Parts: sequence; C-alpha cells; structure tokens
Amino acid sequence: DVIDAEGLLVLPGFIDTHVHFRDPGATHKEDFYTGTLAALAGGVTTILDMPNTQPPTDSLPHLTEKAAIAGTKAVVDYGFYLGATDTNIEEAATIAREVAAMKLYMGSSTGSLLVTEFSPIYRHFSTFPLEKPIVVHAEDEQSLKYFGALGLQDHNQARPPVSAQIALSRAIAIAEKTGRRLHVAHTTTQREMELIHEAKQKGVRVTCEVTPLHLFLNEEDQHRLGNFGKVNPPLRSKSDQAALWRYFNIIDTIGTDHAPHTREEKEQPYSKAPSGMTGVQTMLPLLLNAVSQGKVSLEAVIERCVVNPAEIFGLKTKGALQVGKDADIVLVNPEEEYVISNEQILSRCGWTPFAGTRIKGKVQRVFVRGTLAYDQGRVLAQPGSGKPVAYQG
Ligand code: DOR
Ligand code: ZN
Ligand code: ZN
Repeated sequence: DVIDAEGLLVLPGFIDTHVHFRDPGATHKEDFYTGTLAALAGGVTTILDMPNTQPPTDSLPHLTEKAAIAGTKAVVDYGFYLGATDTNIEEAATIAREVAAMKLYMGSSTGSLLVTEFSPIYRHFSTFPLEKPIVVHAEDEQSLKYFGALGLQDHNQARPPVSAQIALSRAIAIAEKTGRRLHVAHTTTQREMELIHEAKQKGVRVTCEVTPLHLFLNEEDQHRLGNFGKVNPPLRSKSDQAALWRYFNIIDTIGTDHAPHTREEKEQPYSKAPSGMTGVQTMLPLLLNAVSQGKVSLEAVIERCVVNPAEIFGLKTKGALQVGKDADIVLVNPEEEYVISNEQILSRCGWTPFAGTRIKGKVQRVFVRGTLAYDQGRVLAQPGSGKPVAYQG
C-alpha cells in the first residue's frame, strides 16, 4: 500500500504522560478502550495512566490487575504510574521497574491517594530509584473548599491557594536534598513557574508539565462553563495564563490531565461536582491551532509532547526503540478547518470544554508502531492492539 502524504504534515505520535482512564473502578466515566480510542483519534499514540483508580494502583497486585485490563482493551501504547501512600515505601521501590514513574499527591484530589506528612514524603523521595521521576500533584483541593466555606461563590475570585506554593517548595527542597528527579504536574501560576525556574537554575533535577486546559482556558471560561470548567488545580487568571506562555521555554512537557466525569456528575451542585475535564483527544488539535496562529513553533510543541516525555520517563517500545521514534506517526492536514463538538468526543463521558473552538489542522491518519490504526474517522485498531511500553534502566 502506498500512502500519499502530499500536502500533509508527518508528525511523531504524541505522548500524553497524564491521563485518568478510570479503569478499574469507574468505567461508567471511561475505560481503557474508550480512553485509548479518544487518544488515537487525537493523534496520541502513547499514554501514561494515573493511579487514582479503584482500587488505587499502589501495589503489585493492583498494578497487575490494571495491566491485564489494559492488555485486552487498549488501542494505543500505555504505561502506568504507581501511587504513593504513607505505607508503600519499600514496596514502591521494588516494583519501580514496572512503572513509568511514581505519582505522589501532596494535595487531595479525586480518589484516596494522599501523602502530606514530611516523613513518608522524604522516605519516598530517597527510596524510589532516583533516576525515575516522582510526579507530584502539589496543589490542594482542600484549600478550595475553605474558600467555599468563606462564602466565596467561585474559588477563582480568590487568590490561588497559598498551599500550592508551600507544597511545591517542599517538593523542590526534598528533591534537592535527595538528588532525585522530580516532575511537577500541572503547574498553573506565575509563582509556580518562578519557583521551578529558580530551582532549575540551581541545578535541582526538576521538570514540569502544563496542561492545555490551563494554556487555553482561564477563569473567564470557568464562569462560562460552570461546573464543567471545575478542575484541580483550577483555571487561573488571565495573567497567570499569560505567564505560562511567557515561561513556555522552561515547560518540559504538556500533559492533558484527561479526567473524564459524566454530565450527570458535573450537573450536581458546585460543591459536589467532581473536578476534571477530558483532554486527550483535543491536545494535538489545540496545539496545532496555536502553531497556525503563530503562538508557538511546531518544533517546540513536538519537544514537549514527544521528545521530552520519552526522555523524562525513559519510554521504550519492543526492540528498545525510543518511543517517539518507533513509527508512531500522525498525518495531519494543516489546511483543513473544523469546529470541535461534543459529538466528536470518543471519551465515554462525551463532552469537552473546547466545544465550539475553531481548529485549523486536522488529524487524518494515525499509525501505531507502523500499523494504520485510524483513518479519517474510521478506527481500524482492535482492542488489545496497544502494547505496554518498557523503561530505560
Ligand atoms: O481535576 C482533577 N481531576 N484533578 C486531579 O488531580 C484529579 C483529576 C481526576 O482524577 O478527576
Ligand atoms: Zn493532579
Ligand atoms: Zn491528574
């Protein structure tokens, strides 16, 4: 078969190192098939799944259970995070080679994984293999609740929770002391970017992620979207949003924090509605669009969505090829325009905060390890065709 790519962009498959696919435990929101389907249609050929499932991915049996599920359902390649708890310090170190990284929740969020005390955090940081990243969620949903208790109708009218900076400063200090790699999930504020910038200049082994949500939306969108724009960390002010673009050169990865919840769950009263939005299918289109608007170069996007993720998480496929160089290929028509709609969303929850956004640049075909898996809206990949990635070292 000859594939005619005349007039098309040939891109490496994107790597989304931050998705919540809800399998096992909340498959009414998403499962490994629907989540990876959404990824595939969005030109994302490798994902790393977060551990806040039910049961949480905090032990070898729970990891094995999740791997078996992914093995039968996935249509793109995948890896897993191990969730840190107060008590799984030794076990985490022994199963480190089976996972891409550790996820440590220093602030509370969806699920039950949370480690806030100094001692277990320090022990995880010094015991988990130093070359393998610990990814921290360094923001605290609790503080949002406190703002609610103060009678503020919308937390975004208050200043960003101070605890976010405290948790981040702690994580950086402990990473410096232990000499380990630290990757900061979803940084959202200018202050956080300054702290990370400072730490990098000092030689601390810290890298960071931003999400398309915080790059492309701000608190004005939160007003428009209501609960559907509720996310943790929250959408920020226009000036924080602008700071993310200003600091783009020190951002290492763009990850979606794809966190599906059903419409019914989101339509509950504000305090009850869960945090999170979909994102894995819309990342590449939104970033392509930013490229066509001249906000950022295509090379800078590929660095943050392919090169750096593969590097930081040491991702390999069979045959020891680095992920990103293993014929995961996306063909994009850079001229085709369309409007994002909820109907296009293949995530089980079926909605996106970007409905109505006009995009220039359309994903046409996607190859996973050389095999055509998605062809202009047709899914050719079979459940289970996605493979687990391997890790360097
Ligand atoms: O908004 C969020 N949703 N933030 C998180 O950290 C977790 C995620 C989820 O799993 O729903
Ligand atoms: Zn998080
Ligand atoms: Zn997340």
